[in-house]
Amino acid sequence: MTAISAIVATEPGPAQLRDLTEADLPDGDVTVAVSHSSLNYKDGLAVTGKGKVIRSYPMVCGIDLAGTVVESSSDTWRAGDEVVLTGWGLGETWPGGYTQRQRVRSEWLVRRPAGLTPAQTMAVGTAGLTAMLCVIALEKAGLTPDTDLEVLVTGAGGGVGSVAVAVLAGLGYRVAASTGRAEIHDHLRSLGASTIVAREELATAGRPLDKERWAGAVDTVGSQTLATALAQTRYGGSVAACGLVGGSDLPTTVLPFILRGVSLLGVDSVMCPTPRRAEAWERLGRDLPVDVLDRITTIEPLTRVPELAEEILAGATQGRVVIDTAR
Ligand SMILES: NC(=O)c1ccc[n+]([C@@H]2O[C@H](COP(=O)([O-])OP(=O)(O)OC[C@H]3O[C@@H](n4cnc5c(N)ncnc54)[C@H](OP(=O)(O)O)[C@@H]3O)[C@@H](O)[C@H]2O)c1
Repeated sequence: MTAISAIVATEPGPAQLRDLTEADLPDGDVTVAVSHSSLNYKDGLAVTGKGKVIRSYPMVCGIDLAGTVVESSSDTWRAGDEVVLTGWGLGETWPGGYTQRQRVRSEWLVRRPAGLTPAQTMAVGTAGLTAMLCVIALEKAGLTPDTDLEVLVTGAGGGVGSVAVAVLAGLGYRVAASTGRAEIHDHLRSLGASTIVAREELATAGRPLDKERWAGAVDTVGSQTLATALAQTRYGGSVAACGLVGGSDLPTTVLPFILRGVSLLGVDSVMCPTPRRAEAWERLGRDLPVDVLDRITTIEPLTRVPELAEEILAGATQGRVVIDTAR
């Protein structure tokens, strides 16, 4: 029986490269030969054991996967179909994508979007899908590119942030990218950012209602940064909140909501209903130029996942990291 290489957590603590067999795969109606996965902040927490992401052990880590169906008892999928899976508890409650083979539920799969290779779908991955869900949420709340103010993106050098900057700039918005890294200013400008905002500027407590600077915001940081974004968003504007790299607290007041009509839009990609996912993947295919996606992508082997997990938690990775399971 051929061994399946996988990154497995056997107890709370760092996960390791292990050999599995078919017998270790869970029940499910579709078996996928996994070619690629991706690295997200949540993967960093799970693989290092530094965050309570994994609900039962042993657990194959990795919240995303892309590959080809090898066996299916579902009417929807046949051997040879190319598929993508993000979220739905993969790598948390169900064995995940850091493996060469996985068995999953048919209803979680989406078809590989036309125009994207399997590696490119993972360059998008959970982070890119979340960025697009944030943009769609802001649009549905009334944001349009003809606004005279910039749209703020926090944690701009990360996976969610980089895709959000690229998509918003491509749609014609003027984008203010907030980062803590001076060395990536030129890179963020090349993705379309018109202004760079120092991370500390937003992480410092100001007035509960500050000067109106932003037409809207995508926030991946949380805590004081999210509070500042709310205090600086224009009358009637919205902030899409999806992350907590700066903390899960929110030291704000109700003033932005009741005096400026600002809206706080919560964005979740894990249990996001299928029609909304389909819309986001379709928009990514249209609004995220593939050459820009390639520029923010690094491809790494499965064997490096434990090190990469430490790096993403330290804020040392840039853009999107794709995991090639064959290497
Ligand atoms: N709601 C959802 O469904 C969902 C889905 C995906 C991700 N997320 C969340 O979104 C966040 C970003 O995920 P990601 O995969 O893009 O992570 P990532 O690639 O590590 O990006 C996070 C970025 O945040 C900035 N940062 C790091 N530490 C910070 C700190 N202490 N204070 C302020 N900024 C800091 C860094 O950007 P700079 O160096 O440019 O400052 C870093 O690159 C995470 O909290 C993740 O859990 C949520």
